[in-house]
Amino acid sequence: RWVAVLSGGLSHEREVSLRSGRRLSAALRADGLTVEEWDADAGLLARLRDNRPDAVVVALHGGEGENGSVQTVLEMLGVPYVGTDSRACRRAWDKPTTKAELARAGLATPDWAVLPHATFRELGAQPVLDAMVESLGLPLILKPDQGGSALGARVVREAAELPAAMVGCLAYGETVLAERFIEGTEVAVTVVDGPDGPEALPAVEIEPKGGGIYDYTARYTAGLTDFHAPARLSPSAADAVGELAVAAHLLLGLRDVSRTDAIVAPDGTVYFLEVNVSPGLTETSLLPMAVEAAGRSLGEIYAGLIERAVT
Ligand code: DAL
Ligand code: MG
Repeated sequence: RWVAVLSGGLSHEREVSLRSGRRLSAALRADGLTVEEWDADAGLLARLRDNRPDAVVVALHGGEGENGSVQTVLEMLGVPYVGTDSRACRRAWDKPTTKAELARAGLATPDWAVLPHATFRELGAQPVLDAMVESLGLPLILKPDQGGSALGARVVREAAELPAAMVGCLAYGETVLAERFIEGTEVAVTVVDGPDGPEALPAVEIEPKGGGIYDYTARYTAGLTDFHAPARLSPSAADAVGELAVAAHLLLGLRDVSRTDAIVAPDGTVYFLEVNVSPGLTETSLLPMAVEAAGRSLGEIYAGLIERAVT
């Protein structure tokens, strides 16, 4: 039996994915599996057809790897794979959709507004930004509505910073998500499907050094962020974030593995921020820290998911 680990790809998170793919492949080999590492480039379709792997693990981040495109190809070819199916990927990849879905289920998520580029063109940027501050207040965080690794995301504390933040988001896509910025403890909770259903691993707490935000550089430069695994939360808050992550996994129809990012506010409210169907697996990524805090290994967990995928 052999598996292909798909990494790289064409998204802005290509470099991150190559690192995830390398780490995962090494972990699976250490667990005794035969692994090929494939760059998900234009030759992917032919390669899958000509060298059918017994299973594929999608270690792609961003774009085609998380929005359901690659998953659709795998489904059409009938190749078993680890991870969420194409339909749920499409929904999970869109941050406003996930927030609306969770809010409908009664879970807390920071108030938000969705600003398509066309709105700015039709109404002018300044009136739209003024109306947004009027309704949501400050501080805000602006993010591309679809994206990862905090690319394009920016915290806005004063209205004067909004136009630049908006332009920064539009560099990554057509639509801006503006969200209330909640000060609190940022955590990431990995969920893994097991024989008894989805299980939350210990939350990992993110503490960017020097009071900065957890941006792309703080994510992937060793030493720029302090991580606490498990997170320094009260037992009840730790339970609450675990329950939120499992709820997100189930409500959004995710499969095998996911990571929910959340904020615990000083009053104890747990706010859902977003979910990741293909969590980073690099040396500085959160899922491997959660796995270690749980006393498990990356190879064992993914080997188990591969087994589920092929049987
Ligand atoms: N989007 C990156 C890879 C993450 O969520 O870990
Ligand atoms: Mg993300």
